[in-house]
Amino acid sequence: MSDTSGKSWSGRFSEPVSDLVKRYTASVFFDQRMAAQDIRGSLAHAKMLARQSIITQDDFAAIERGLAQVAEEIAAGAFVWNLDDEDVHLNIEKRLTALVGDAGKRLHTGRSRNDQVATDIRLWLRDTIDTLDGLLADLVRALLDVAETHAETPMPGFTHLQVAQPVTFGHHLLAYVEMLRRDRERFADCRKRVNRLPLGAAALAGTTFPIDREFVARELGFEAICENSLDAVSDRDFAIEFCAAAALVMVHLSRFSEELILWMSPRVGFIDLADRFCTGSSIMPQKKNPDVPELARGKSGRVFGHLMGLLTLMKGQPLAYNKDNQEDKEPLFDTADTLVDTLRIFADMAPGIQVKPEAMATALKQGFATATDLADYLVKRGLPFRDAHEAVACAVRAAEKQNCDLADLPLAELQKFSPLIGDDVFEVLSVAGSLAARDHLGGTAPQQVKAAIARLRATLRE
Ligand code: ARG
Repeated sequence: MSDTSGKSWSGRFSEPVSDLVKRYTASVFFDQRMAAQDIRGSLAHAKMLARQSIITQDDFAAIERGLAQVAEEIAAGAFVWNLDDEDVHLNIEKRLTALVGDAGKRLHTGRSRNDQVATDIRLWLRDTIDTLDGLLADLVRALLDVAETHAETPMPGFTHLQVAQPVTFGHHLLAYVEMLRRDRERFADCRKRVNRLPLGAAALAGTTFPIDREFVARELGFEAICENSLDAVSDRDFAIEFCAAAALVMVHLSRFSEELILWMSPRVGFIDLADRFCTGSSIMPQKKNPDVPELARGKSGRVFGHLMGLLTLMKGQPLAYNKDNQEDKEPLFDTADTLVDTLRIFADMAPGIQVKPEAMATALKQGFATATDLADYLVKRGLPFRDAHEAVACAVRAAEKQNCDLADLPLAELQKFSPLIGDDVFEVLSVAGSLAARDHLGGTAPQQVKAAIARLRATLRE
């Protein structure tokens, strides 16, 4: 016999694969991070086999003992991962068999690596989603604290990156809180479809053994069972959904990053970030660069890329399992790692956002931010909105010529644009008046912002 005899599928082959092919086809160096899930899945499978009298209770006891030792060795870093054994599944099975003999060889009864790997990924992804949900909640909490401190701090709200209307900084942050809340919803929804059991599908057609899939599902905490064996082993739509939800998280964090970078630019100067999130320049001594937000903005690219990679991975595959599917793991792992790190760092960075209210107030004076308030004022006095819009546009032009804000024009001058204007107009033209007037659900009035924060805190406690 040739030296392929060590392989679990070796009998059929007359020559060994080259070292290059071995390396090319192996996944053990990245899929070993699913070892804990692989062991959990194997334990549930073995327990079911024993319950169904497909293996003996003694075999199950040996498997349980052996897998416990394997788990210990892996946790202690003492486990020797071997490229010759291709992937995490074969590595663990081989060590188990070395430890407990024939019982280890019986573990794979009624199972295939195809349904095994699909189960492992789903277990791993379920854990990952739970971790990410906790991290999203931490970031929401951190943003709520900053929003509360600045529920009344006026800043210019922008459209087209031009000063539009006053908002409060707290209100602005709550926009991101809403995005992150929807991100949590998306992960929770995705989790339902991740949390289904493929085991029992075996290679593709099911198995001839009298298995109990409901039992295995209960043991592993799956809320449903994949109901078609071909689909169970081959589709990875749940991973794609996860990457799509992850991509949206990165879109949101990237937009936030862009704003932090812009606000921190000395040209704008709305905020400063704590030094530990910034770096200096090796040549320009005056620099303090917002590296963390810039990297987060940059890392969104790799997450979007992984989504596209997985879509492309799946699109041409005929049913059922193909080795292509082994390529699902690295994009998935890197997506999760990028999100975990980015969310952690943002939750850590948020409390260190130092707001500069004077800079925001100065910017607010430079863009006729309360022009809409004046138009609304005229409408409330009976002028049709379009006419009010025109009257205020003329007033803005006059103020622009005099290089001053609308509120700096004398009453008599303002009245030239509409006789409906009275001396109560200055309250309306003030930033505080403008903010307080938007007093409805979702509006920027400070008391609405505070109420929103209270509601959001309550949902976090649920
Ligand atoms: N390492 C493989 C993967 O990640 C496990 C399944 C292998 N199945 C097979 N028939 N070659 O997809």
